[in-house]
Order: sequence, then C-alpha cells, then structure tokens
Amino acid sequence: MATAKRASVAKTNPAVKKTASSKSVASAKKSPAAKTPPQSQDAIAILRADHSLVSGLFAEFAKTRSGSRKKSLVAQICTELSIHAQVEEEIFYPAIKAALRDKELVPEATVEHATLKDLMAQVEGKEPDGEMYDAKIKVMSEYVKHHVKEEQTEMFPKARKTNLDMKELGARMLVRKEELRPLKTAQAHRTGVMASIKDAMGIV
Ligand SMILES: [Fe+2]
Ligand SMILES: [Fe+2]
Repeated sequence: MATAKRASVAKTNPAVKKTASSKSVASAKKSPAAKTPPQSQDAIAILRADHSLVSGLFAEFAKTRSGSRKKSLVAQICTELSIHAQVEEEIFYPAIKAALRDKELVPEATVEHATLKDLMAQVEGKEPDGEMYDAKIKVMSEYVKHHVKEEQTEMFPKARKTNLDMKELGARMLVRKEELRPLKTAQAHRTGVMASIKDAMGIV
C-alpha cells in the first residue's frame, strides 16, 4: 500500500526522486547512451578527468620512439588541451571569478593558458624531427603539470567552498565540450595539412 502510494506520488510530482529501479529501467531504454559510460557532471570532476587524460598522453609520448605515434599523440594532446582551456575560459573561470571575487587566480591561469597556446602552436601538425621537437613537448608537459597543480591545489578547493552549483556548471561544460570537439578536430586536421605543405615546400 505504502509502495503504491509512493509510486503514485512520484508519477504526479516530477520533483520526487525516482527509485533506483525506475532509474535503471529508464536508462536501459536509452540504448545509444548506454554505449558510453556515464560521465560525472560535476564541473571539478570533469576538469580533473581532463587533466588525467592529458597527463597520460604526455607519459605515453615520453615512452614512444615512433615518429608517427609521437605526431598523433601531440595532435591528441593539443586537441584535448585546446577544448579544456576554452571550456575553462568560457564557463568555469568566469563563474568562480565572480563567486570568489577573484583578482589573482583566474587572471594568472588565463595568462598561463596563453603561454600554453603559444607552445602548442609551435608543435601542432609539425613533424617530430628531433631533439628540439622533443624538448618543446617536454617543456609543454612540465608547464601543464605546473598549471594543473595550481588549479587542483588552489583554485578547485576554493571553488568547492563557494555555493556554486557544480552539477549545473558541469552540465553546461559537457555540452560545450561536445560542440567544440568536431571544430577542434577539424582545425587540427587543417593545421596538419598546412604544416605538411610547408614542410614539402621547405618553408620554416
Ligand atoms: Fe587551466
Ligand atoms: Fe585545467
């Protein structure tokens, strides 16, 4: 009787949380979404997952000797970093800057993004042709490590203490990431083609 009553309340009031079983039935029906594991919508968890992904790609770069593998890893690193930085700058940073009335952390992080973009422009689409290329990736990796450390040890703990709705922020970030991914992938492809043409023509 109590169960039947609860079910009927849930049916008429959408604010009432669904039970675990009704939730799993609902998600099981969405077969296309079932292909990918559910991603956390928490803004900080999304950013931390991006940081780990890029750190893993840099670690793989450090181990590989294959030029073509290095080139594809760098393309992936640049695409991921570029999407990540844009989402931070458009959504996450402005929200926490306002919530914290911050005049230091966000401006400094934004300047670091600009430096990273300069470093990325030096390697995107280029052939991994020796020690200077490897040196640029090494410097980029150290720079990313430093930037990530500041975000994770200073910015994120402060952001967590605000009353910002991290789920709402995260949901907007995920939508923007999906919008940016095809654009950034196409852009990386164009940069690669242009770099190959310049290489073939001997233009530095
Ligand atoms: Fe950042
Ligand atoms: Fe970040």
